[in-house]
Amino acid sequence: MVTDDSPWERHARWWQEGFTEGADREYEEQILPLVDAQLAGSGTVLEVGCGEGQVARRAAALGAEVVGVDPSSAQVTEAYRRGGGPCYVRAGGERLPFPGDCFDAVVVSLVIEHVEPFEPVLAEIARVLVPGGRLVLFVGHPIAQAPGSSWVDDADFGDQYWRLGPYLPDHLAVEEVAPGVELPFFHRPLGRYVHELGRVGLLVEDLIEPPPPSDTLAQLAGFREAATIPRLLCLRAVRAGALRRPGGS
Ligand SMILES: C[S@@+](CC[C@H](N)C(=O)[O-])C[C@H]1O[C@@H](n2cnc3c(N)ncnc32)[C@H](O)[C@@H]1O
Repeated sequence: MVTDDSPWERHARWWQEGFTEGADREYEEQILPLVDAQLAGSGTVLEVGCGEGQVARRAAALGAEVVGVDPSSAQVTEAYRRGGGPCYVRAGGERLPFPGDCFDAVVVSLVIEHVEPFEPVLAEIARVLVPGGRLVLFVGHPIAQAPGSSWVDDADFGDQYWRLGPYLPDHLAVEEVAPGVELPFFHRPLGRYVHELGRVGLLVEDLIEPPPPSDTLAQLAGFREAATIPRLLCLRAVRAGALRRPGGS
């Protein structure tokens, strides 16, 4: 939804300074290379929740015609300033200002876990994709986002393990990710996403779970199995020929 008082509007600068233009290893080592691999050959690409445009610019560098939408004015303004080829429109993913069947691909990167309800966004994506078009969806991995999940170093028993918190229930956490920066994170189990994708006619073709990026592994250097628990999930889904409309089973 477009509003001037969203946390993302207030904290756009924090995001731009800390997570774009080479500042974040997860983007440099994982998300942007996966964008290259998953969007190669797409003629027209829509990015939903484009922020300041790093993913949109990457898709444009592949030769695609790219449009980015984001409800935050501060993000869209910065995206325009940074340039690099894409066009931008201020809009939320729940109501995309495009006719049906008009994009070869849609990419959504680290957005859907901040949006509730997320179902209308997926329905809109299915609507604007051409039949056979692909959705590339990056989301914080649900096993890392389940509340209370973390590495545990149990010195008494000489054991180290990943503690998985309550996984199945949906859960909202407003996390203070930096001093004064509070953002909503919605945990949902993986099945909620896959089920909803199928319901709107987006059929999952691939699921990629890279190990954590190098800086996270460096921070977890004391944990022998740190590379075995992913933080990121990338789903690729293809739009079925005949759209299943929300409301169907
Ligand atoms: C973590 S940032 C990711 C930005 C960009 N996708 C990237 O990967 O660099 C999340 C973005 O989602 C946007 N957002 C929040 N609610 C949204 C909604 N309902 N529809 C579309 N985008 C939304 C925010 O404004 C913010 O720019």
